[in-house]
Amino acid sequence: MKLTISILKADVGSIGGHTRPSQRMMDAVKADCAAAVRQGLLIDYYVGHTGDDICITCTHTHGPGNTQVHQFAWDAFIHATGIAREYGLYGAGQDLLVDAPSGNLRGAGPAVAEIEFDHDPVKTNRVRPAESFMVLAADKCGPGAYNLPLFLGFADPMYCGGLMLPRLSEGFTFNIIDMDNTEGDSIISLNAPEDYYKITVLLRDNERFGIDSIVSRHTGQTAAAVSATRLHNIAGTYTGKDDPVAIVRNQGVFPAPEELISPFAKAHYIGGDARGSHVMPLMPVPINTAVTGMYCLPLVSCVGFSLNAQGKFSDSSSDFFDNPAWDYVRNLAQEKGIQMRSQGWSGAAMLPYGELEYSGFRTSITNLVEKFTFRNGVNGHGPKAKAPARSSGRGRK
Ligand code: 13P
Ligand code: MG
Ligand code: MG
Repeated sequence: MKLTISILKADVGSIGGHTRPSQRMMDAVKADCAAAVRQGLLIDYYVGHTGDDICITCTHTHGPGNTQVHQFAWDAFIHATGIAREYGLYGAGQDLLVDAPSGNLRGAGPAVAEIEFDHDPVKTNRVRPAESFMVLAADKCGPGAYNLPLFLGFADPMYCGGLMLPRLSEGFTFNIIDMDNTEGDSIISLNAPEDYYKITVLLRDNERFGIDSIVSRHTGQTAAAVSATRLHNIAGTYTGKDDPVAIVRNQGVFPAPEELISPFAKAHYIGGDARGSHVMPLMPVPINTAVTGMYCLPLVSCVGFSLNAQGKFSDSSSDFFDNPAWDYVRNLAQEKGIQMRSQGWSGAAMLPYGELEYSGFRTSITNLVEKFTFRNGVNGHGPKAKAPARSSGRGRK
């Protein structure tokens, strides 16, 4: 059968600040998912939270971008928003940016990642005799938080030794989206390994370019899908961090889990953290972890699932970062975070002007820029003085 895995994620309210959703909200979303299974819309589901973001992972046969599936998720997030409002939680309904989605959650605020594929897990199936996948969910993160780890996992044999094997050595196609282009999904397709350097030229800019999907060149199958969109480009103003989610299929014709998650041992620095305006390390954590740590350290969770022939998976799961091996990385992230925080607001510790998510920071800067004067007393910038435009790249010299 043609099966679709959909991840639908939103921040619709959290307790005691931007920490985590309440248990009542989680229970409500789970109950809505169970009802959707009973009605035959979904085959199966799993609901977890990473920081303040509720993430629904589900399977169905309706294809990506399906109106009914997206409307169901929207309604579940509305339901949880109502509970958040009732109990006075912070940021109730934060990521629901429109009154009603026009059939698709993309562009309406919630994050979406979906993959459709032929699902026939039998021993004789040479491409996918078994289907296993991981769900990544990150909080307090800019949209390109997965650029480096997914690139290393799918294109660098220093991390993915499997790339030296016959089927994987044909490489992967990286579909990269320009998140500054608000006219539509603007995509370039580059092939690893031959376009290796070109891919890095783009992926180095986590705020503008993001991995949209990764496709196996051996099979043509989609290996990974990421919810790469810039929330403030949708909303026009800061509403919260993008907090991306991703589906990553593993084993067989794709990298193995350890090859995919070992790059996260870097706890690499990304844009996000407090007020979406700082540079801090990404800490791997178990699913259902609240953001209560240092400053508001960016977090990422990774849960693994297997699918039976009917597309069911939620009977059990593996929480990849809930393992003592990752305690070392958590300490590393904490150490890196303390080092970065020790320089407070200076230079690399905060995002550059064009990426400061809180428009209030830019207002503060602009108010001062307008007051600059030449030494001889003439206004240095004239009456229409303005700080640089917000755009992160286009038009910039
Ligand atoms: P969230 O998008 O997770 O709500 O974070 C926003 C923020 O400003 C963190 O300081
Ligand atoms: Mg929030
Ligand atoms: Mg969040």
